[in-house]
Amino acid sequence: MKPVTAHAFAKINLELRVLGLRPDGYHELRTTFQSIALADKLTFTRTRGPFTIECDDPSFPTDNTNLIWKAGERVLRLSGSRDPIHGVTVRVEKNIPMQAGLGGGSSNAAAALRAFSRLWRVTPSPAELQHAAARLGADVPYFLHGGTALGFHRGDLLVPLDDMDPAWAVVVVPDFGVSTKEAFAWWDQSPRRNPSVSNDLQGVVAKRHPVVARLVRALNKEGAFLASLSGSGSAVFGLFSRRSDAQAAARTLAGPRTFVTPTLTRAACRRLAAK
Ligand code: C5P
Repeated sequence: MKPVTAHAFAKINLELRVLGLRPDGYHELRTTFQSIALADKLTFTRTRGPFTIECDDPSFPTDNTNLIWKAGERVLRLSGSRDPIHGVTVRVEKNIPMQAGLGGGSSNAAAALRAFSRLWRVTPSPAELQHAAARLGADVPYFLHGGTALGFHRGDLLVPLDDMDPAWAVVVVPDFGVSTKEAFAWWDQSPRRNPSVSNDLQGVVAKRHPVVARLVRALNKEGAFLASLSGSGSAVFGLFSRRSDAQAAARTLAGPRTFVTPTLTRAACRRLAAK
């Protein structure tokens, strides 16, 4: 059988409001997700050996803590099998920086749920897929669909929105990562809401990492129509209507991890995901 390939797209959060702490320890959110073309490429190949994940990036976990592994186990259970997972190698071409608030791990998980289903000819119902995704992480259900969508509750109750007008994102990833769990804990210590900032986590992250506020200011100065922290960071993005303006801003901000990438519609995500 031919290998199954999947593109796992990154996201940015056009808006992120933390509405409070939930009884389950998570935070009640209202967030607008937006897909961007920056993507990891996953290749699933059947083998006669054990289950393995391969990646050139040595900091990428390849053990059973990886959400790709967990997604494989979920699909196997949905197929009715009780066997340990085996007989597949997943090669990951990692382009989405980790601990950046770009949803790389969650996106890999959603792409893997679909890819394992194809590989093993399992056909979970949309509800089963959605449930499996939510069990893997709060952002994973969003990545089953992509595009522009509102997320409520933990971010896993989704309302698809009309796609935003096509735009170009300049994504700047500082040389440190932010743990999502930690960022929410910072918010708990000093819940703050500044209506002129589109992400409620930006203030608490920028307090520990002032470069975040500097990057947002720089992107605004370059003419971005929206500039913000993405998710819990550390990535900061600026949106531009014109590619040339985005490229000019990226040149001015010049850093080793600066990307210029278009936003993606839901239809484009669907079309490109399995290529
Ligand atoms: O669901 P996921 O594993 O991606 O979330 C990582 C961490 O982020 C959670 O353990 C939790 O501490 C925090 N989180 C939260 N509220 C959310 C989403 C995530 O507190 N809505």
